[in-house]
Amino acid sequence: MRTQVGIVGAGPAGLLLSHLLHLQGIESVVLERRSRDHAEGRVRAGVLEQGTTDTLVEAGVGERLLREGLPHEGIELRFGGAGHRIAFEKLVPGHVITVYGQQEIVKDLIAARLAAGGDVRFEVDDVALHDVDSGRPYLTFGGERLDCDFIVGCDGFHGVSRPSIPPGVLTTYEREYPFAWLGVLARVRPSADELIYARTERGFALHSMRSPEISRFYLQVSPDEDLAAWPDERVWDELKTRLETVPGFTLTTGEIIDKGVTPMRGFVAEPMQYGRLFLAGDAAHIVPPTGAKGLNLAVADVRVLTRALAHRYETGSADLLDGYSRACLRRVWRAQHFSWWMTTLLHTFDTDDPYARRLQTSHLEYVTSSEAAARTLAENYVGLPYEPGD
Ligand code: FAD
Ligand code: DHB
Repeated sequence: MRTQVGIVGAGPAGLLLSHLLHLQGIESVVLERRSRDHAEGRVRAGVLEQGTTDTLVEAGVGERLLREGLPHEGIELRFGGAGHRIAFEKLVPGHVITVYGQQEIVKDLIAARLAAGGDVRFEVDDVALHDVDSGRPYLTFGGERLDCDFIVGCDGFHGVSRPSIPPGVLTTYEREYPFAWLGVLARVRPSADELIYARTERGFALHSMRSPEISRFYLQVSPDEDLAAWPDERVWDELKTRLETVPGFTLTTGEIIDKGVTPMRGFVAEPMQYGRLFLAGDAAHIVPPTGAKGLNLAVADVRVLTRALAHRYETGSADLLDGYSRACLRRVWRAQHFSWWMTTLLHTFDTDDPYARRLQTSHLEYVTSSEAAARTLAENYVGLPYEPGD
């Protein structure tokens, strides 16, 4: 079997890449280890930058997103017994974020690929990459062989693509955080119209949502937290303690329909290319979720890569492909810094002493009282513009 671009992983990066390549007349095959149900059911990110929404809409896969996605013009930072709004409409006019679940994007993309006759294979075992530093790379899986012009590793942080690059080629940068997020999805109307990022002495909490009927919450917990220690009553008690800190705010509780623990880490592998293998999305970089950047970075990567591959097929020139890693890493490092900054601003660290807590309070007060500081948060949160041509 042969194709132009072999894609490992049917997360947002792999599926969107396959769809964007199709729009450029470039063939691909997507190989996914998990079942379609599993890929469509995984609850993860939910905040889309304007550029991500525009990319999906322009690519013809934004119809349901425009109908069901919730545009937000601000977020609240809650600390010290008060809420402080970061008003995008004033600070970054014309920019909104859209709240729409990552698994809904995955569903929309799978439907679009299949409707266009795209080749997306689920429950594919033992994917392995071969000869990626030659002109004829190929993939093997479940006894089959797929010859490709190029291979793109979109298989997330724990995938096979990055580890198949020989030792010594990549430089990796990593930061582990001494906590994790317990995420829950609940069948209950959101208790506020906007997202609430709350810093408390007991740790961070986030109020988010998916629809007028479904809420999403996160709690800072210890890195090795056992889910079994979090029955629903404890989750609600802790969310109430951390969120009901301003006069008049009551958290509405309801049925919890999904629960999971996500470790927090920053990670970057450089370069994002080895021979004819390109890495995109979480396969190349991870951010702690506080800045809501992971999914948006994956979309930005595949935009750049699509243009570079299209240029290569149209002109025969590998110039843009050779510049892929450099073009992405600038945005990747901006997101690393922003995510680290938001994480540091809002979480409790076991190493905190009273001095560190006072610094954090001062920082939060500055961000919520200085227009310049608030704008720094807002412009990063809604997403910096793509570079010309990306
Ligand atoms: P992924 O979505 O991870 O997709 C990779 C795909 O590759 C998966 O479908 C996987 O099954 C497949 N795969 C892996 N290995 C193989 C293999 N060997 N062969 C074939 N297929 C393979 N970001 C936020 O902004 N907010 C959040 O709340 C948030 N929560 C998250 C929770 C979890 C548990 C995780 C892991 C990530 C979360 N993120 C969050 C980050 C965000 O979801 C990711 O940045 C985004 O999913 C990146 O998309 P991707 O396509 O690069 O990778
Ligand atoms: C969500 C996730 C995030 O990481 C974040 O910063 C805001 C919202 C969410 O899943 O809704």
